[in-house]
This record gives sequence, C-alpha cells and structure tokens, in this order.
Amino acid sequence: MRKILLTIFLSFSISFLFGQVNSQNNSLEQINKRPLMGWSSWNVYNLDINATKIEKQAKALVDLGLRDLGYQFVNIDDGFWAGRDKNDNLIINRDRFPKGLKPLVDMIKSYHLHPGIYSDAGVMSCGSIWGGDLNGINVGLHGHLEQDAELYFNELGFEYIKIDYCGAGDELNLDTEKQYISLIKGINQISRHPVIVNICRWAYPGNWARGLANAWRISYDITPNWDRIKYIIDKNLYLSAYASSQGFNDMDMLELGMGMTNNEEEVHMGMWSIMSSPLIIGCDLTKINDSSLKLLKNKTLISINQDKLARQAKVVQHKGETYVLVKDIEKIRGNKRAVALYNPSDKKQKITVSLADLGYELQNSKDEIKVFDAIKEYREKSLKNDLSISLEPRSIKVYILEGNRGSKQGNYEAEWAFISNYNDLPKSDRTKAPVYKKDSLASGQMIVGNAGGENNFISWDEVYTEKSGKYIVEIYYRPNPLRTKFFLGVNGAIHSSEFLSKKMDNQEFNKKSIAVNMKKGFNRVKLSSISNLLPDIDRISIYRASE
Ligand code: GLA
Repeated sequence: MRKILLTIFLSFSISFLFGQVNSQNNSLEQINKRPLMGWSSWNVYNLDINATKIEKQAKALVDLGLRDLGYQFVNIDDGFWAGRDKNDNLIINRDRFPKGLKPLVDMIKSYHLHPGIYSDAGVMSCGSIWGGDLNGINVGLHGHLEQDAELYFNELGFEYIKIDYCGAGDELNLDTEKQYISLIKGINQISRHPVIVNICRWAYPGNWARGLANAWRISYDITPNWDRIKYIIDKNLYLSAYASSQGFNDMDMLELGMGMTNNEEEVHMGMWSIMSSPLIIGCDLTKINDSSLKLLKNKTLISINQDKLARQAKVVQHKGETYVLVKDIEKIRGNKRAVALYNPSDKKQKITVSLADLGYELQNSKDEIKVFDAIKEYREKSLKNDLSISLEPRSIKVYILEGNRGSKQGNYEAEWAFISNYNDLPKSDRTKAPVYKKDSLASGQMIVGNAGGENNFISWDEVYTEKSGKYIVEIYYRPNPLRTKFFLGVNGAIHSSEFLSKKMDNQEFNKKSIAVNMKKGFNRVKLSSISNLLPDIDRISIYRASE
C-alpha cells in the first residue's frame, strides 16, 4: 500500500510540477525560446558519419522515448561534404550518403523529428583545419551564402544550422559580429521556413547575438573527461545575465554515455539543465547504458532546463571550492526555485547555505520549505533551517525548493549584472575590456572590472522591492583615482555622483550610499559613466530608507 501511495504521489508531483515536458507539437519559433534538445553526430562519430548511422540514432530517439521528452533535433555535424563542383555548388559525400541528404531529411521528418545541419562562417570546415579533411576545403558559407542556404533550407529542408568559425581564419580578416549578423539575416531571408541557428564561436560573442540565435557556444570543444566538464561549467558560472528566451549560453553537446562516472554524469546533466544549456545528446543511443539513459530521461531535470522563464541559474554562494546556484522557475520571484549544490573538488565537502541566501524566509513556526531531489526524483524531508549536506568529490545535488519567498531587500552581486558591451572574444588588449573577475575579498569572490565608458553600462534589471518609496542604494567598489565620476540610474531617473578616490579605513571595498525612489516590484538599476571607466564593483545593496 505504501508503495502504491508513493507511486501515486510521485507521479502526481512529477506531472504537477512538469506538465509541459512534451513539446512535440510546438512551432520552431516556440522551440527556439527554450534551450534546444536533440542528438548530434559529432561527439560520437566525428567525421566518420553516414546515412545508416544517423538513421539508427533518429530511430533510437523515438524508440527510447527521448523524442517525446523533447529531444527532437537530429543534427548532422561536420563530415557530409565532398567539396564544391565547378559552379561552386556543394557536393554531398556520396560514399557516406549514397542517395544524398534529402531521403535522410525526409526520414527524420517522418519520425516527427527536426533535421539539423552544420556549416562555417568562413570558407573552410573545422574538420579540414583540425582533422586534415580534404572534403571540407572551401565548403563554408562565406561567399556562398545564397546557393548554400537555398540548398540546405529550401531544397533539403533543414530546420537548424550550427555555424562554426574555424574556417574564418585570420587571413579573411572578418569581424565576428558583422559576419554572423549578415549570414543569419541572409539565411532568414532566403529560407522559406524558420531556421534555428547556433553560433559556434567558442566564446561569449556579445549581446548582438541575443535574438539572432538559439544559443552561442562559450568555450572550445567538450570531451568526455572531467577536467573539460569542470572547465566549461567554470566558463558559464557568471554569464547568467545573458541567457533568456532570446538565446542561451551553449555549454556544448552532451557526453553522457561516453564513459564518465555516474557522479560526473550527474554533474554534467545537472549543470547543463540548471544553467539552461542546450541538451544535445552526443553518444551512440543504440548502445547507451541504463544509468546514462535514465539521466537523459530525467523529467525533473528536463523541466528545469526547459522552464518557461528561460533563466540561467546564478551563483548565490561560493565558499572554498564549492558553489550554490539558484534558478527561478515557473514564476519570477515565485515560490519555486531550482537549486544546485556543486562540489567540483576532488575531496568530500560539506556545503551549508542559509534559507535567506536561497531566497526563502520562514514566517511562522509551522512554515517549512519543501524539498524535491531532482536527480533521484524523490521528495525529501522539508527544511526548517539551513540547507546542509555532504557532497562526494565531483558531485552535485539538484533540488526544487518550494516555500515562501523572503521579502528582505538584499544584495545584488556585480557578477549577476548585465554589461552592455561584454564579450569574451579574443582581444589584443584586455586591460580595458569589461570583465567578470575573481577577487577573493569580494562577496561571492567576484567583481566586475572595466564597466563604464561609452556604451558599456552595467545593470541589474530585477531589483525587487515590496513597496514603492525611498530606498538607499549602496554601491561597493574598490577606489581608483582615475575612475571616480559615475551615474546611478533607477528606472531611468539619473543621479550624477562621484566615488572616493582613496580607500576608506579598514575596508576592502568602499561603500557609496545614494537615496533613490523605487517602485513596487521590479526596478532597473544601472551604473554608467562617460569619459572614465568605472572602478571595480563588488555588489550593490538595497534597503528601505527610514521615513
Ligand atoms: C568544431 C566545433 C565542434 C564540431 C567540430 C566539427 O570543433 O566546435 O562542435 O562541430 O568543429 O569539425
């Protein structure tokens, strides 16, 4: 009886929490507002692809129930070309695809899956550069956009394209932003149906990409290896301000089922989910082991990843080597939040985080915070106090918490803020580029450096207050004699002010307090300057001014 009740309870809570996992009938425009889900040929096959292999994986997506959980794209990556003919038309590799790509695309669509393809923003394929693949010479989109887009989208019917950048080498002297914008706009004009785009530039490319692509890669390639997983997570910890339904930070295709330990795979799937990365499977699904498949099919993690708010979790605590991340789900500042406790170290670690730092507040002695273990899909004992657990080396816990949100105004870390001119592209001079930077003395151990100057403001767009009225904004900054003048904007009202040029006694960060008016609910707080840059900013803190 207990078992039956538990089963009813579990299926109830899962379907109650996650009604809309199956997005099979969504239009491409709707799908584009969530991290993309599917399978791609690269991680398992590299260049060694063919029609039979891809057909088998498409069938497996259906047979294993993955399509119905949202994994709907079948993406053919590098390796399908055989150069261009004398009229510069692309040639499809007939050894690998004897009937060309059209029958494969039709078969993929007949399974109610979406076909995806791959190209390059320059002239060469990545395989030709890194893998010596002679078939990938001169196959990129640069200079051939019209005929290639006509082929991929109108003749063959692909619905997604990943656009790499290996072949846009120095000699072409391309500007990343201009090149991608012109290619993507061109594709949208030429294609007779919507096309979802992935920008594969190996670095956060800049805010221009938002609204143009479903996602943009933030690092070089993933491998099924712990150090690389950890490296990619690190790259994404402080990019939460840039993820939204306008596009996501792509942590690269999944390596589940490719030989990592179960704990490592839980970190991989857990972090990709809570950080709203695309979930593109990269293993041979006909041979996948049960535990990897179970993780890929975890409805709770998928629902966290596909949540309609399209937020990326932000770091609310970083102590020692451990992290706590939080993501609002279902409703902004609603009662439910997804939380990850992450131990990337090679030692067992205890993590304790207060309810206040998780955003909750108990209002009376009966109050409690409900806890649902997202990986085990199991309801745990409710919380009345700090959340505290011991984590094995290289492991994670992901929870969905539910309870009353705290009403106290609080801290807004600089590392959560949006910087209007931020990108992570290679630069010759990094000394003046805006940056999220480690600083062991800062709260959260991070600061924002080099914000300010023309078109380079920093903003917190969801500063929440319970009531309208007078508030104090405190800005914590590290003084710099050349960086004193600044503006504080609150919902468009501008306060002109100056930071001190010297350090105050016994303080690591100086504090500047400014009285402002705030409205009830969400406010936009912005720091900017004109001729000088801003000093290093640790955080802002907001509280109600006494009447
Ligand atoms: C680059 C990309 C990979 C893959 C290969 C193909 O390295 O980052 O994801 O597409 O090219 O050659």
